Amino acid sequence: MLDVKGIDTYYGLSHILFDVTLKVGAGEVVGLLGRNGAGKSTTMKSIMGIVPPRKGTVTFNGENVTGGKPFMLFRKGIGYVPDDRRVFADLCVDDNLDIVHQRSKEWDKERVYDLFPALREIKARRAGHLSGGEQQMLTIARALMGSPDLLLLDEPTEGLAPLIVRDLEQQISKLRDAGISILLSEQNVRSALKMISRAYVIDNGRIRFEGTVEELEANEEVKKKYLMV
Ligand SMILES: Nc1ncnc2c1ncn2[C@@H]1O[C@H](COP(=O)(O)OP(=O)(O)OP(=O)(O)O)[C@@H](O)[C@H]1O
Ligand SMILES: [Mg+2]
Repeated sequence: MLDVKGIDTYYGLSHILFDVTLKVGAGEVVGLLGRNGAGKSTTMKSIMGIVPPRKGTVTFNGENVTGGKPFMLFRKGIGYVPDDRRVFADLCVDDNLDIVHQRSKEWDKERVYDLFPALREIKARRAGHLSGGEQQMLTIARALMGSPDLLLLDEPTEGLAPLIVRDLEQQISKLRDAGISILLSEQNVRSALKMISRAYVIDNGRIRFEGTVEELEANEEVKKKYLMV
């Protein structure tokens, strides 16, 4: 479904990603794991065309979408939940969902609220007044309103209380059960391992490991060197 091949990405003169290659198959939940500053967010921004790669290709559903505009990638079926939980602070929860362009009727507000019942309870509240966990649910809910084939989730559990993290882990697992493919970036490897089946480990802008969860768990060197677990 998603095929990233040999991408190099820069911020101005700073060379950040080196020959990054990864794949997400239909229905797969794949982890992109790595420490602070490893290049996880830059990889997602490269896929979404926010920071277009200078080398390599991004193919989605068989189509070359390298460097496409973010809205174009959204319309093709990639939902992106960035690391900064940007909600429309002045709009209520319900309106934050209503403004999304719906690619199909696969996901609508009812289905989204069924996944996040806590949001239904507060649907009239201004998004700017929500807690961090509620805002994170809302940004995922908003991405779902576009009925994506693939979701890019950038450190969804970062900075959230353990109880909220557990809720989110369950909700993300439900998305997997609903057949949505997911690329999940995490520093919190323990949490990620509960949701993913395969992982890439990135460090200093380079993919250092690729394998199943079992292979990663058995690889003490990779865990110690790049993940601190
Ligand atoms: N806008 C920017 N301009 C210049 N350098 C940047 C910019 N954003 C990130 N970087 C640098 O790119 C490198 C990779 O950053 P990136 O945000 O992709 O890492 P990350 O794995 O997402 O880290 P984190 O876990 O902290 O979110 C870092 O060295 C970072 O300092
Ligand atoms: Mg990041």
